[in-house]
Amino acid sequence: MQPKQSIVHLPVYQPGKPIEEVKRELGLKEVIKLASNENPFGSSEHAKAAIQNELNNISLYPDGGSVDLTNDLAAYLGVTPKQIIFGAGSDEVILMLARAYLTPGDETIMADETFPQYKHNCEIEGATIIEVPLNDGTHDLTAMLAKVTDRTKIIWVCNPNNPTGTIVRKAELEAFIRQVPSNVLVVLDEAYFEYVLDAEYPDGITLLPEFKNVIVLRTFSKVYGLASLRIGYGVGHEDVIRSINQVREPFNTSRFGQAAAKASLADTQFLDNCRARNAEGIAYMNEEFDRLGLNYFEAHGNFIMVDAKLPSQQVFDGLLRKGIISRARWSYYPTHIRITVGSREQNEAFIRALEEVLQEAAVLG
Ligand SMILES: Cc1ncc(COP(=O)(O)O)c(C=O)c1O
Repeated sequence: MQPKQSIVHLPVYQPGKPIEEVKRELGLKEVIKLASNENPFGSSEHAKAAIQNELNNISLYPDGGSVDLTNDLAAYLGVTPKQIIFGAGSDEVILMLARAYLTPGDETIMADETFPQYKHNCEIEGATIIEVPLNDGTHDLTAMLAKVTDRTKIIWVCNPNNPTGTIVRKAELEAFIRQVPSNVLVVLDEAYFEYVLDAEYPDGITLLPEFKNVIVLRTFSKVYGLASLRIGYGVGHEDVIRSINQVREPFNTSRFGQAAAKASLADTQFLDNCRARNAEGIAYMNEEFDRLGLNYFEAHGNFIMVDAKLPSQQVFDGLLRKGIISRARWSYYPTHIRITVGSREQNEAFIRALEEVLQEAAVLG
């Protein structure tokens, strides 16, 4: 038996070690995971109550079209229900986009470094991946535009970008989209949209009336704190959404995911609180990095990429021994680690641990 050629070289996804295992192995009482950009403040109480309500229905398939949630979200975003598609996380929307639009020989353009699932799914479909290096941690839209050919099908713009946390601003993004041929799909991944406070940050949804070839991806995994329920969505022109719906599994989101997302959407207080506390966390971390003399990218999501001036694996291992799980090993950024903004206590524990790691390695005096 021979699997398809486009997957034979792909690594199997290696999940991070569970917290309990790290504790046992390293003899630690407490371990703080700041590796996956999860919400340190949990999720809305309304979402938990909605899940309780669904407990009696778990023997029934979910509503395959997520009709109730779609209607609420459409009203919230000011779009029509036909412009929305839900996925098992925005991860699945990325997968469905690649599946619906790409065949071998097609080209797709993305930043290097950016969210790895674009490349992964496009490779599976046999597309040719064109990676364009970031410019000072930010998408180089001019260089990306220069890579467009008549074989280009999809351009991915991650805004804020994971892992760097940087944004492209409104005027630049609009000028870029205006120059992209109208038969090329531009995917604006706004997984961290709700966290961004910069006045020049573009809301991709406002571009949809003018640009049929734009699709915006968002998720309930981040500021809404529903990562385990796997629910995210795409918003675009109804023809694009229809094409993605053609490859969607019939019951791709769960009853719990739909119910919790609906309840979370209505809990603006929870969202505002998380957004404000995240901003405080970023300000604190920035101050501390300045104190330690470390450079970092301007963070707009709920994570920060900082240059620890040591091989990132060494910093990762040092932090792990002190009970902090971070992210490391980006080929373009060999001395950077990415850290999720946690609660005040978690952020303080991280900074203490980082300072010790740097002192032990004699980076700091
Ligand atoms: C930029 C970006 N897009 C998409 C996702 C996927 O999120 P989910 O599948 O949980 O919606 C993530 C998760 O970390 C992300 O960072």
